[in-house]
Amino acid sequence: MTEVKLGIVGLGNWGDRLAGAVARIEGASLEMCFARSLESRSRFSKAHGCEPARSMDALVAAPLDGILVATPHSTHRDVVGQLAVAGRNIMVEKPLALSVSDARACVRAADEAGIILQVAHYRRRLGATRALRRAIDDGRLGTVHALDGWFSRVWGPQADRPWRDDPDESPLGGMTALGVHIVDNFHYLAGPISRVSCFSKQIEGVTGIDDITTAMFEFESGPVGRLGTSLRVPFHATTAVFGSEASAWSSDDGTRFLVQNRDDREAHAEDVEPVDGVVANLTAFCESLRTGSRPETGGREGFAVVAVMDAMRRSAVAGGAVVEVESF
Ligand SMILES: NC(=O)c1ccc[n+]([C@@H]2O[C@H](COP(=O)([O-])OP(=O)(O)OC[C@H]3O[C@@H](n4cnc5c(N)ncnc54)[C@H](OP(=O)(O)O)[C@@H]3O)[C@@H](O)[C@H]2O)c1
Repeated sequence: MTEVKLGIVGLGNWGDRLAGAVARIEGASLEMCFARSLESRSRFSKAHGCEPARSMDALVAAPLDGILVATPHSTHRDVVGQLAVAGRNIMVEKPLALSVSDARACVRAADEAGIILQVAHYRRRLGATRALRRAIDDGRLGTVHALDGWFSRVWGPQADRPWRDDPDESPLGGMTALGVHIVDNFHYLAGPISRVSCFSKQIEGVTGIDDITTAMFEFESGPVGRLGTSLRVPFHATTAVFGSEASAWSSDDGTRFLVQNRDDREAHAEDVEPVDGVVANLTAFCESLRTGSRPETGGREGFAVVAVMDAMRRSAVAGGAVVEVESF
């Protein structure tokens, strides 16, 4: 297997998680790292055994097969743009960008440069999400009428990472950090979302961002959907699909798959493959680097999620008015 040499920009909480995941992938190595502070670079390079780059330009110029981007949301557009222009393949953390125009610019930059751009929407790769998709494709659920999702965790205020509590970096509270994963799951399961109505507000007001956000969706393919997210409510993550023959949902962070058939009064669990979604996402990126294959969650999939977030934001500002999602 050809060894894939990776670099990383953004060496904080998630940079560590990505480096740990790369270490578990056969045929991949993390060679170089960059963040603006020298202290971060030396801590990270010692912890993960890679070379600290002197500057972003030095990272960009290094002979690497791909670069992982784990910097704050507002920086994604410029970092992706700089890497794309230099012809570097990119795996960028979610969300791809914070606005439709920035997300479009990222996709265009990648297209023009002919590089691979993958967005880290890894939760569609979890065992239970894959099982949901199979249940839809096999017709087990019958006609799909609705999708439902929730993603919350208590997180913040974040004194060491104040950008997280800035509403410009995290519009719609937990939606930017967590809800976007479920929006991508929804797209994976039912195709594009066309219309949105959203409410988002502070309740406790402990951080600068919204405490609770909830949205209703209409999918182009017919069903409707509902999604809630919060960074003030204890951990819970689920994606559910309700059909005419059965309903099915993921539980326990995508490790359990539950099905309730039409005539059953209770759900039963079915085995799913345990998957580390972060490792699976990076393994797929390495495979694209080796083969040139198009990523499952490429720039356009990342754009679609940003477009739904943008529609939610416009709707919330308009008191929950129904708004259309922009297409690419
Ligand atoms: N997929 C998931 O489930 C998941 C989970 C958590 C986080 N994430 C994503 O990972 C990304 C980073 O989040 P985090 O929690 O790791 O943040 P973090 O802990 O604050 O780390 C951010 C890192 O980026 C560096 N940085 C900031 N601005 C930069 C710039 N302009 N150029 C280069 N480096 C810069 C920071 O160091 P300096 O200030 O020294 O430059 C720091 O090393 C976000 O997109 C977030 O949504 C994804």
